[in-house]
Amino acid sequence: MKRTTLTLLSIFLMLTLFENCRTTQKISQSDTYELSDNVLAAFGEDIFKRESCSSCHTLSLEQAHSAFKSLDGLGGKYTSGWHYLYLANPDTMFPSAIMPSFPHLYQNNLDKKKLTKWLKEKSLIKKVNTDSVWAKMVRQADVLSEEITQSATPVEGRTEALALIAYLQQIPSSDYKKKVDSLEMERKKQEEIAWEKMWDQALAVKDSTNVIFQASQNKESIQKGQNLFEQYCIACHGNKAEGRIGPNLTDKDWLYGGKELDIARTIAFGVPHKGMLSYRSFFTPTEVGEIIAYISSLKGKGGKK
Ligand code: HEC
Ligand code: HEC
Repeated sequence: MKRTTLTLLSIFLMLTLFENCRTTQKISQSDTYELSDNVLAAFGEDIFKRESCSSCHTLSLEQAHSAFKSLDGLGGKYTSGWHYLYLANPDTMFPSAIMPSFPHLYQNNLDKKKLTKWLKEKSLIKKVNTDSVWAKMVRQADVLSEEITQSATPVEGRTEALALIAYLQQIPSSDYKKKVDSLEMERKKQEEIAWEKMWDQALAVKDSTNVIFQASQNKESIQKGQNLFEQYCIACHGNKAEGRIGPNLTDKDWLYGGKELDIARTIAFGVPHKGMLSYRSFFTPTEVGEIIAYISSLKGKGGKK
């Protein structure tokens, strides 16, 4: 007798708890969900969940690791056209992509019935006017379509792909990501400052201890210099520096001086008004010395034009 009472009591307790749980869930869902202005993106968020994008992705850089790529701050990183091509075929953007393609998103149309069902799931059906929400969603889809058509490729139909892209395009940067980005920017700035300083110091030394001069005198530099010259200079100066758009560098005539450091200066600062870039941020002083070693080795071989 006692045992049955106890069992009944526990069943009663369990049921009450279960019921409690269900009501809290209901309340929290309808109370916390607010339909954002960007209906298309809000709808897209649930497509993101449905397609299990989160099985490989996290929205927090802080939680990212090799098997869990972060989409933190994805919004605005690429154009919508990029996403439209990418989700259909990731290989077009990253060769041998691991990311699967999602062709069905381009076949599933957005329609009012789906929207109504979704609004019901969000317990919003009584709060909003379905027709006006649908009209808004259509407008947003059409604007996005137009943008993708302009920037990348014609869009066919009003499909789920658009909603997903609208969602991806508003994934914000977390505070952690912002901090990482600003540290990275600061690091780059410091690197640039250090690079400038290295160049200023290299050009300031006027005697034979100058690093550019030393590299230019080293026989082993010639091959390295040739590789760089062939990669960056022959388009304008010719295969053997005999001259093309830019002047012959193998004869005795120098517009800006023919001593090693004069040549180094021309390469470092370029001749912008004549179309030759500044190469200071491209090469180290030693590399410029190597290029000069190669140019010097061609002396007299280019023939005078
Ligand atoms: C099986 C794992 C997997 C799934 C599922 C997956 N992805 Fe990816 N995704 C990747 C990997 C891995 C990369 C990195 C590029 C690569 O190697 O393909 C990536 C890259 C991306 C990028 C580029 C990120 C950047 O910053 O360059 C976006 C955007 C993206 N995924 C969106 C999605 C969306 C949206 C879904 C769901 C519809 C999804 N992914 C599902 C694995 C996955
Ligand atoms: C886009 C074309 C272009 C490229 C690329 C280019 N140059 Fe020039 N370069 C020129 C032009 C044009 C001049 C001549 C400017 C003038 O007439 O005042 C010039 C001048 C020079 C001079 C000065 C010659 C003198 O008579 O004083 C040197 C040295 C030189 N270039 C080296 C290089 C090196 C080394 C590279 C590769 C790192 C390079 N250039 C890449 C177009 C180019």
